[in-house]
Amino acid sequence: MNRTSASPGFDVVDLIRRKRDAGVLGGEEIDWLIEAYVADGIADEQMSAMLMAIFWQGLSSGELARWTEAMIASGEEVDLSSLSRPTVDKHSTGGVGDKISLVLAPLVAACGAAVPQLSGRGLGHTGGTLDKLEAIPGWRSSLEPDAILRQLDEVGCVICAAGADLAPADRKLYALRDVTGTVESIPLISASIMSKKIAEGTASLVLDVKVGDGAFMTDTQRAAELARTMVALGRAHQVKTVALLTAMDTPLGRTAGNALEVIEAVEVLSGGGPDDVVEVTLALAREMLSLAGIDADPALALADGAALATWRAMVVAQGGDPDAALARASHIETVRAERSGVVTRLAARPVGVAAWRLGAGRTRKEDPVSAAAGVVWLARPGDEVRAGDPVFELHTDDPDRMDRAREALAGAMEIGDEPPPSAPLVLDRVD
Ligand code: URA
Repeated sequence: MNRTSASPGFDVVDLIRRKRDAGVLGGEEIDWLIEAYVADGIADEQMSAMLMAIFWQGLSSGELARWTEAMIASGEEVDLSSLSRPTVDKHSTGGVGDKISLVLAPLVAACGAAVPQLSGRGLGHTGGTLDKLEAIPGWRSSLEPDAILRQLDEVGCVICAAGADLAPADRKLYALRDVTGTVESIPLISASIMSKKIAEGTASLVLDVKVGDGAFMTDTQRAAELARTMVALGRAHQVKTVALLTAMDTPLGRTAGNALEVIEAVEVLSGGGPDDVVEVTLALAREMLSLAGIDADPALALADGAALATWRAMVVAQGGDPDAALARASHIETVRAERSGVVTRLAARPVGVAAWRLGAGRTRKEDPVSAAAGVVWLARPGDEVRAGDPVFELHTDDPDRMDRAREALAGAMEIGDEPPPSAPLVLDRVD
């Protein structure tokens, strides 16, 4: 094993030891670590050890700022300064049934902002925005930089795959974190998300930090710490950043799955859709518009068809047919209520896992996903049900997947005698 790699004077093993023992890494050492790792000058096992040391010991705010800058500097920064509209984006840390980006980007664009949403693919039980949009026949996630700028000017929003040049260090580091148990680290998550958002060139950013059983931050305190860390990083890079902490104990809306979520998003864009999706979307839209300095009522843009028109224009601009019928699963089975009563709990994580097992999500980033697969829940907390009523629909093209999805859903819905107390969706705001 090469101890010093291609470095002038740094020894990766010394740096790992120092971080392991709660020491502080210097700025040039951090620059070198990221640069050398991207250039294959540091072995995966060495970077794995460094990531685990950071997982336990954390990074000081100075180290985190430098780590994030080094990740940004590993690729190209997008220049959106030629746009006439103010730019504002949103990032969600991921939840079950979270189709809000599909609604929010055209909604905020319809109110006058430019929304440059450069996204990655979903992994695990929370679905990815690109996978959802790819359920639309013809829709393309991959766009050239000048097409992105043109679309932002003409339509006002773009949701597309981040190019290979956007913070490439993150791609490599994230893949390593995924297989070394080092994803759930506040500084590493913050650097990962914010390096991509800062490199994307947006002037303002609203973060939707999900909290609860279906999110990867399950307690409010850690979610608030993540939010504060990301907001501080954004501000330090002149990106006006606000975070909302939103509840993810119950899945959002009524569906989890790619085509199923597109259909639900279009319902919301048409002025209808489930109340919880509308409420969180409007809360985020108001924050985005306020950061962009735009005085407009996003509820009006949902009601008067402006957001839907922008959605259609965005889909068409990326080769999709907004009127095409979406894939429908060849096999649909129902799960029925075991007793009569009122739904007291619907757990997000098992619903996400069931949708994933039905084929809606992927385990490895190169896996294909099914457009048609997913779960529909026909009752939510507070709804009354009778024994034998259908409460879930399982959608898949591969019937062999049904049993494992049913197993995931066992116990996901609790039915009792008293309605549950109503719980807020927006839990906190960090600015
Ligand atoms: N999403 C990201 O982009 N990075 C993380 O580290 C976690 C979630």
